[in-house]
Amino acid sequence: MFAATVLTLFPEMFPGPLGLSLAGDALERGLWSLEARDIREHGLGRHRTVDDTPAGGGPGMVMRADVLAASLDSALEPGDPRPRLIMSPRGRPFAQRQARQWAAGPGVVIVCARFEGVDERVIEGRGLIEVSIGDYVLSGGEIAALAVLDACVRLIPGVMGKIESGEQESFESGLLEYPHYTRPREWEGRAIPDVLLNGDHKAIEKWRREEAERLTRERRPDLF
Ligand code: ADE
Repeated sequence: MFAATVLTLFPEMFPGPLGLSLAGDALERGLWSLEARDIREHGLGRHRTVDDTPAGGGPGMVMRADVLAASLDSALEPGDPRPRLIMSPRGRPFAQRQARQWAAGPGVVIVCARFEGVDERVIEGRGLIEVSIGDYVLSGGEIAALAVLDACVRLIPGVMGKIESGEQESFESGLLEYPHYTRPREWEGRAIPDVLLNGDHKAIEKWRREEAERLTRERRPDLF
Protein backbone atom coordinates (compact mmCIF):
# COMPACT_ATOMS: atom_id res chain seq x y z
CA MET A 1 0.00 0.00 0.00
CA PHE A 2 1.17 3.52 -0.81
CA ALA A 3 1.92 5.15 2.56
CA ALA A 4 2.54 8.88 2.77
CA THR A 5 4.14 10.48 5.82
CA VAL A 6 4.29 14.29 5.84
CA LEU A 7 6.38 16.32 8.27
CA THR A 8 5.05 19.84 8.60
CA LEU A 9 4.52 22.75 10.98
CA PHE A 10 0.90 22.82 9.78
CA PRO A 11 -0.49 19.28 10.07
CA GLU A 12 -4.02 20.76 9.85
CA MET A 13 -3.34 21.34 6.14
CA PHE A 14 -3.60 17.54 5.62
CA PRO A 15 -5.40 15.69 4.15
CA GLY A 16 -7.04 18.99 3.05
CA PRO A 17 -8.15 18.57 -0.57
CA LEU A 18 -6.85 14.99 -0.57
CA GLY A 19 -9.65 14.09 1.85
CA LEU A 20 -12.23 14.84 -0.87
CA SER A 21 -13.23 13.36 -4.21
CA LEU A 22 -11.28 10.44 -5.68
CA ALA A 23 -8.25 10.71 -3.39
CA GLY A 24 -10.46 11.04 -0.32
CA ASP A 25 -12.62 8.04 -1.25
CA ALA A 26 -9.46 6.02 -1.84
CA LEU A 27 -8.08 7.13 1.53
CA GLU A 28 -11.27 5.91 3.23
CA ARG A 29 -11.15 2.65 1.28
CA GLY A 30 -7.57 2.06 2.50
CA LEU A 31 -5.96 2.20 -0.96
CA TRP A 32 -3.40 4.60 0.47
CA SER A 33 -2.59 6.09 3.88
CA LEU A 34 -1.58 9.54 5.06
CA GLU A 35 0.07 10.52 8.32
CA ALA A 36 0.81 14.20 9.00
CA ARG A 37 3.30 14.80 11.82
CA ASP A 38 3.95 18.10 13.53
CA ILE A 39 7.66 19.01 13.36
CA ARG A 40 7.11 21.31 16.34
CA GLU A 41 6.70 18.29 18.62
CA HIS A 42 10.48 18.06 18.37
CA GLY A 43 11.05 21.81 18.83
CA LEU A 44 13.39 23.02 21.55
CA GLY A 45 12.56 24.58 24.88
CA ARG A 46 9.41 26.04 26.27
CA HIS A 47 8.56 27.66 22.92
CA ARG A 48 9.24 24.49 20.92
CA THR A 49 11.60 26.46 18.69
CA VAL A 50 12.29 24.91 15.27
CA ASP A 51 14.34 27.63 13.56
CA ASP A 52 17.25 29.99 14.11
CA THR A 53 19.09 32.82 12.39
CA PRO A 54 21.22 31.99 9.35
CA ALA A 55 24.92 31.39 9.88
CA GLY A 56 26.77 34.15 8.06
CA GLY A 57 23.88 36.56 8.55
CA GLY A 58 21.15 37.65 6.18
CA PRO A 59 17.37 37.80 6.25
CA GLY A 60 14.91 35.13 7.33
CA MET A 61 15.23 32.09 9.50
CA VAL A 62 16.57 28.59 8.88
CA MET A 63 15.00 25.34 10.08
CA ARG A 64 17.33 23.59 12.51
CA ALA A 65 18.95 20.31 11.42
CA ASP A 66 18.66 18.70 14.86
CA VAL A 67 14.92 19.41 15.16
CA LEU A 68 14.07 18.17 11.68
CA ALA A 69 16.28 15.08 12.10
CA ALA A 70 14.55 14.24 15.39
CA SER A 71 11.17 14.54 13.66
CA LEU A 72 12.30 12.31 10.77
CA ASP A 73 13.93 9.73 13.04
CA SER A 74 10.83 9.41 15.20
CA ALA A 75 8.58 9.08 12.13
CA LEU A 76 10.56 6.34 10.38
CA GLU A 77 11.32 2.74 11.27
CA PRO A 78 14.91 1.70 10.52
CA GLY A 79 15.08 0.42 6.94
CA ASP A 80 11.97 2.29 5.79
CA PRO A 81 12.26 1.89 1.99
CA ARG A 82 10.34 5.05 1.06
CA PRO A 83 12.10 7.93 -0.69
CA ARG A 84 12.48 10.96 1.60
CA LEU A 85 11.57 14.16 -0.17
CA ILE A 86 11.85 17.77 0.83
CA MET A 87 9.80 20.28 -1.10
CA SER A 88 11.88 23.22 -2.32
CA PRO A 89 11.89 25.56 -5.33
CA ARG A 90 15.53 24.63 -5.89
CA GLY A 91 14.72 20.92 -6.13
CA ARG A 92 14.59 18.70 -9.18
CA PRO A 93 11.50 19.39 -11.29
CA PHE A 94 8.56 17.11 -10.49
CA ALA A 95 6.89 15.55 -13.54
CA GLN A 96 4.56 12.70 -14.53
CA ARG A 97 7.39 10.17 -14.94
CA GLN A 98 8.37 10.70 -11.30
CA ALA A 99 4.73 10.46 -10.17
CA ARG A 100 4.47 7.11 -11.95
CA GLN A 101 7.61 5.80 -10.26
CA TRP A 102 6.64 6.86 -6.76
CA ALA A 103 3.02 5.70 -7.18
CA ALA A 104 4.30 2.20 -8.01
CA GLY A 105 6.45 2.08 -4.86
CA PRO A 106 5.82 1.82 -1.10
CA GLY A 107 4.97 5.53 -0.70
CA VAL A 108 6.87 8.69 0.19
CA VAL A 109 8.05 10.67 3.19
CA ILE A 110 7.74 14.41 2.53
CA VAL A 111 9.28 17.22 4.55
CA CYS A 112 7.54 20.58 4.15
CA ALA A 113 9.99 23.42 4.72
CA ARG A 114 8.99 26.92 5.81
CA PHE A 115 11.29 29.88 6.46
CA GLU A 116 14.16 30.75 4.13
CA GLY A 117 15.27 27.17 4.10
CA VAL A 118 16.55 24.19 5.99
CA ASP A 119 20.02 23.61 7.42
CA GLU A 120 21.90 21.94 4.55
CA ARG A 121 23.35 19.30 6.87
CA VAL A 122 20.02 17.56 7.48
CA ILE A 123 19.42 17.34 3.72
CA GLU A 124 22.79 15.58 3.36
CA GLY A 125 22.67 13.65 6.61
CA ARG A 126 19.22 12.15 6.07
CA GLY A 127 19.50 11.74 2.29
CA LEU A 128 16.63 14.08 1.47
CA ILE A 129 15.71 14.51 -2.21
CA GLU A 130 14.81 18.12 -2.99
CA VAL A 131 11.74 18.35 -5.25
CA SER A 132 10.23 21.42 -6.93
CA ILE A 133 6.75 21.66 -8.43
CA GLY A 134 7.65 24.63 -10.63
CA ASP A 135 9.59 27.81 -11.07
CA TYR A 136 7.74 29.98 -8.56
CA VAL A 137 8.00 30.39 -4.82
CA LEU A 138 5.28 29.16 -2.48
CA SER A 139 5.21 30.24 1.15
CA GLY A 140 5.87 26.69 2.28
CA GLY A 141 6.16 23.14 1.06
CA GLU A 142 2.66 22.02 2.08
CA ILE A 143 0.84 22.97 -1.12
CA ALA A 144 3.69 21.45 -3.14
CA ALA A 145 3.42 18.23 -1.09
CA LEU A 146 -0.33 18.09 -1.74
CA ALA A 147 0.31 18.47 -5.47
CA VAL A 148 2.90 15.66 -5.51
CA LEU A 149 0.65 13.35 -3.47
CA ASP A 150 -2.37 14.07 -5.66
CA ALA A 151 -0.41 13.24 -8.81
CA CYS A 152 0.81 9.95 -7.26
CA VAL A 153 -2.42 8.83 -5.58
CA ARG A 154 -4.57 9.05 -8.71
CA LEU A 155 -2.20 6.56 -10.36
CA ILE A 156 -2.67 3.90 -7.65
CA PRO A 157 -4.69 1.02 -9.12
CA GLY A 158 -8.35 1.31 -8.11
CA VAL A 159 -8.27 5.01 -7.19
CA MET A 160 -9.71 6.27 -10.46
CA GLY A 161 -12.34 3.52 -10.59
CA LYS A 162 -14.17 3.48 -13.92
CA ILE A 163 -12.41 6.53 -15.25
CA GLU A 164 -9.69 5.41 -17.59
CA SER A 165 -6.27 5.07 -16.02
CA GLY A 166 -5.12 8.01 -18.01
CA GLU A 167 -3.35 6.71 -21.09
CA GLN A 168 -5.02 9.43 -23.14
CA GLU A 169 -4.22 12.20 -20.74
CA SER A 170 -1.74 15.00 -21.18
CA PHE A 171 1.86 13.85 -20.64
CA GLU A 172 1.09 10.11 -20.54
CA SER A 173 1.29 10.11 -24.35
CA GLY A 174 4.00 12.76 -24.41
CA LEU A 175 1.47 15.18 -25.93
CA LEU A 176 -1.01 17.66 -24.48
CA GLU A 177 -4.61 16.52 -24.53
CA TYR A 178 -6.88 17.10 -27.54
CA PRO A 179 -9.96 19.37 -27.09
CA HIS A 180 -13.13 17.89 -25.58
CA TYR A 181 -16.80 18.65 -26.33
CA THR A 182 -20.19 17.54 -25.08
CA ARG A 183 -23.85 18.53 -25.58
CA PRO A 184 -25.33 20.86 -26.63
CA ARG A 185 -24.27 20.49 -30.23
CA GLU A 186 -24.22 24.26 -30.62
CA TRP A 187 -23.52 26.70 -27.79
CA GLU A 188 -23.34 30.50 -28.16
CA GLY A 189 -22.85 30.07 -31.89
CA ARG A 190 -20.01 27.58 -31.47
CA ALA A 191 -20.51 24.14 -33.00
CA ILE A 192 -18.86 20.84 -32.09
CA PRO A 193 -16.44 19.92 -34.91
CA ASP A 194 -18.35 17.78 -37.47
CA VAL A 195 -15.76 15.00 -37.44
CA LEU A 196 -16.73 14.16 -33.83
CA LEU A 197 -20.40 13.69 -34.76
CA ASN A 198 -20.28 11.39 -37.77
CA GLY A 199 -19.26 8.16 -36.02
CA ASP A 200 -16.13 7.53 -38.10
CA HIS A 201 -13.83 6.36 -35.33
CA LYS A 202 -10.71 6.23 -37.51
CA ALA A 203 -11.29 9.85 -38.56
CA ILE A 204 -11.97 10.88 -34.96
CA GLU A 205 -8.76 9.26 -33.78
CA LYS A 206 -6.79 10.99 -36.54
CA TRP A 207 -8.35 14.38 -35.73
CA ARG A 208 -7.59 14.00 -32.01
CA ARG A 209 -4.00 13.01 -32.70
CA GLU A 210 -3.52 16.01 -35.00
CA GLU A 211 -5.10 18.41 -32.51
CA ALA A 212 -2.93 17.05 -29.69
CA GLU A 213 0.15 17.54 -31.85
CA ARG A 214 -0.92 21.05 -32.88
CA LEU A 215 -1.54 22.12 -29.26
CA THR A 216 1.74 20.63 -28.08
CA ARG A 217 3.69 22.33 -30.88
CA GLU A 218 2.03 25.69 -30.11
CA ARG A 219 2.08 25.64 -26.33
CA ARG A 220 4.90 23.30 -25.32
CA PRO A 221 7.47 23.08 -28.10
CA ASP A 222 9.84 21.70 -25.45
CA LEU A 223 7.70 18.52 -25.25
CA PHE A 224 7.26 18.15 -28.98
N1 ADE B 1 8.32 25.45 -1.62
C1 ADE B 1 8.21 26.73 -1.99
N2 ADE B 1 8.09 26.84 -3.32
C2 ADE B 1 8.13 25.58 -3.82
C3 ADE B 1 8.07 25.03 -5.12
N3 ADE B 1 7.94 25.78 -6.21
N4 ADE B 1 8.16 23.70 -5.24
C4 ADE B 1 8.31 22.92 -4.15
N5 ADE B 1 8.38 23.38 -2.90
C5 ADE B 1 8.30 24.70 -2.72
